[in-house]
Amino acid sequence: MRKAGLNFWLACGLFLTGAGLAVSGFVRWLVLPCGGGQGFRGGRWAYPEPVFIFTRGTWDDIHKFFAVVFVGLVAAHVMLHWNWLVGMWRSLGRRQGP
Ligand code: HEM
Repeated sequence: MRKAGLNFWLACGLFLTGAGLAVSGFVRWLVLPCGGGQGFRGGRWAYPEPVFIFTRGTWDDIHKFFAVVFVGLVAAHVMLHWNWLVGMWRSLGRRQGP
């Protein structure tokens, strides 16, 4: 695949995983902030597990899955643009000279 095509699909992946992280993160934060999970010695806070489409635990798993894929795609993005980054770093360094 040509580099432009690879960059395009990488950008699509970054957008979709970023959106997935935002959705699952905000659901976890604002819609299902607490309840369920591990109550003290399985005590009365342990159940019922709150549900919004999925259970809170599943939203956590979705969030973590997207986080791993997103970080991998960011690493690939940085590698593909490494020469650009080094060039920019050097030209910024030159500009700040005396
Ligand atoms: C709009 C963006 C995001 C929102 C609103 C968000 C929200 C949250 C919330 C509310 C939690 C639970 C915190 C807690 O229990 O104290 C969480 C956990 C976490 N987030 Fe995010 N997050 C976002 C983006 C990200 C990104 C970009 C990454 C990494 C690439 C990430 C990785 C994680 C991980 C690894 C956890 C711990 C999950 C666990 O322990 O079960 N999040 N996030």
